[in-house]
Amino acid sequence: MSVIKVAILGFGTVGEGFYRTIQSHAEELKAVLGKKVEVAAILIKNKQKERDISSDVLVTTEFEDILNLPQLDVVVEAIVDKDPTYIYLRKAIERGSHIITANKEMFAHYGQELLELAKTHHVSVGYEATVAGGIPVIQTLRQLLNVNRVQQVQGILNGTSNFILTEMREKKLSFTEALRAAQENGYAEADPTNDVEGFDAFYKAMILSRLAFSEEPNWDAVERTGITSITSELIETAGRLGLRFKHIASIKKFGKQLKVSVEPVLVGNEHPLYHVEGVQNAVNISSDIVGQITLQGPGAGMFPTASAVIEDLVYVCQNRPDSEGFQSTSDTIASPEEGQHEENWLITGFKHATNDVIKMIDHIEDGTWIAKAKKEEMKELSRQNLGVVYFPIIGEYEGRHILTRLA
Ligand code: HSE
Repeated sequence: MSVIKVAILGFGTVGEGFYRTIQSHAEELKAVLGKKVEVAAILIKNKQKERDISSDVLVTTEFEDILNLPQLDVVVEAIVDKDPTYIYLRKAIERGSHIITANKEMFAHYGQELLELAKTHHVSVGYEATVAGGIPVIQTLRQLLNVNRVQQVQGILNGTSNFILTEMREKKLSFTEALRAAQENGYAEADPTNDVEGFDAFYKAMILSRLAFSEEPNWDAVERTGITSITSELIETAGRLGLRFKHIASIKKFGKQLKVSVEPVLVGNEHPLYHVEGVQNAVNISSDIVGQITLQGPGAGMFPTASAVIEDLVYVCQNRPDSEGFQSTSDTIASPEEGQHEENWLITGFKHATNDVIKMIDHIEDGTWIAKAKKEEMKELSRQNLGVVYFPIIGEYEGRHILTRLA
């Protein structure tokens, strides 16, 4: 084989970005792979649409045409839906092609099946573009997992939500105005509910969980909260306390218990996620040998995602699929059970002067408090007091004196 033949499924932002990058970086690809990369075919939905595709590429609406190509080394999937995409990728693997996907929802649902099937057919699976756009988090975790034991992965995994929270704070926009700006910039999913209600970040968290811990939690047990309840007033109050709202996916292991959450969190300015703004994503990995690593970069967009896909192309062509390294599945170092250690919380809507559930450490303004409490105690407080809303604070909380200092 002197040429690597690739098929692309879908010609939206990701598919087109990948196609254009193969052309713009043909020399680099040839140098690293020792072979020319050629796009043999592209699967599209609508034949009438104008596209800038070379005439020697087969453009088809039939997946069977792609399977019937005489040579098909890699299938790159950049379609949004999970069905029938999964079936397409199964067929590609069974035909003996490596696969690369950017489809987080599909991979969260069927990734394990595809990885197992690929193993039996001695081909590789690239899925870097499913999580955090252009950030090489999958490769980093693969690399770390050879010997390190990962204890926690915490990240801003949805560019749209981060963009909205940043715009609301910096430009004093309402949630609706900021969402419209995200849509105009092309960051949001076709249905932005997936972004703002945390489904997109949830799927990405499940993919990371499988990779980092070789398991994922029961999906129903994951606390998933979006950003739709974050008002301009809350953002303003947080700002006065030196805190910023970030939508954070967190995957950690307490002894044998895997705990995953996707929720708005208040972040202090010492924390590595505090300065991650706009459409940027970031992932903070804690592991036992190296300590903490934070990766930050563009979480969405044509070329950041194309960068992840093109690097996957090199990965699948060079990887020896039968030589996957040892992956530690040991328990992480024992620590208190989730919910059993004290954290700082911002509480709003609490009208009483005292309570017998938790210790309030700062009174900010009418109904707004900072407390130091266990998560279970916060849940109890909100059960007893309708209208109470609370958010965890991570990183340094400077305390009430910051209000005086900034006044
Ligand atoms: N809608 C997604 C986001 C695109 O905003 O992060 C990249 O997965």
